[in-house]
Amino acid sequence: MSKIVDYIQSKSQGINPKVGIILGSGLGSFVDVLENPVTLSYDELEGFPDAGVSGHEGKLHLGKINHTEIAVLQGRAHYYESGIADVMKIPVRTLAKLGCESLILTNAAGSLMEEAQPGSVMALTDHINFTGVNPLFGEESNNRFVNMADAYNSDMRSRFHQIADNENIKIHEGVYIWFCGPSFETPAEILAAKMLGADAVGMSTVPEVILARHAGMKVAALSVITNMAAGMSDEVLNHELTMANADKGIQDLKTLLIRFLESYS
Ligand code: HPA
Repeated sequence: MSKIVDYIQSKSQGINPKVGIILGSGLGSFVDVLENPVTLSYDELEGFPDAGVSGHEGKLHLGKINHTEIAVLQGRAHYYESGIADVMKIPVRTLAKLGCESLILTNAAGSLMEEAQPGSVMALTDHINFTGVNPLFGEESNNRFVNMADAYNSDMRSRFHQIADNENIKIHEGVYIWFCGPSFETPAEILAAKMLGADAVGMSTVPEVILARHAGMKVAALSVITNMAAGMSDEVLNHELTMANADKGIQDLKTLLIRFLESYS
């Protein structure tokens, strides 16, 4: 672990990131706003995953937005690719060791709320881990018993709401439920998820949030709603559809991230 951190720091041209970002599907172009970034391929970083699904690059970028120094993971691995729940352990811990005090996660998600239509953005207030696995399996110290109340930092979320108001962007709020995928959910599963209190569904983010809280980082997470969840519309779900509907949400989410980071203190 410290070898990777030393290696990154030897290449980072003095950038000491305070905020880490994990980009979800379709959000890769966010990195274009970085001023003179240092970019490293996951191939150079031992323990970082091979990036899988289309739209995922497998690069770590270090750079600045205004005065804020950030580290961006462009490309995440999912539990469904390997069946390994802690596949993002080393990347998340690396961000913490590099000095990131906060982590912002983004993802694509299906909506369980009629009012949150494809192309909208949702801030996570909480999550339901519906997979039965945990990225902290095998951890030995008592730190593994991580408090997950207030996992999603309310100050960071308020700041995103303030920015959204200024930019005339609507942000929904809700509970994200993690299904392991890779098959989409059945309509019956979505009905069950709704009864459990879920507002959006996806196949990522939750394990990274658990790892980040374990590593002591503050967390915010934002979903781009790409589709109505199974059984909630006549559309047949597939990966291409979920990406095609994401555009407006992706633009809005990029604006929110940039404004948040520009004014981060
Ligand atoms: N289900 C699970 N993951 C997703 C969905 C969905 O409907 N949309 C985007 N990611």
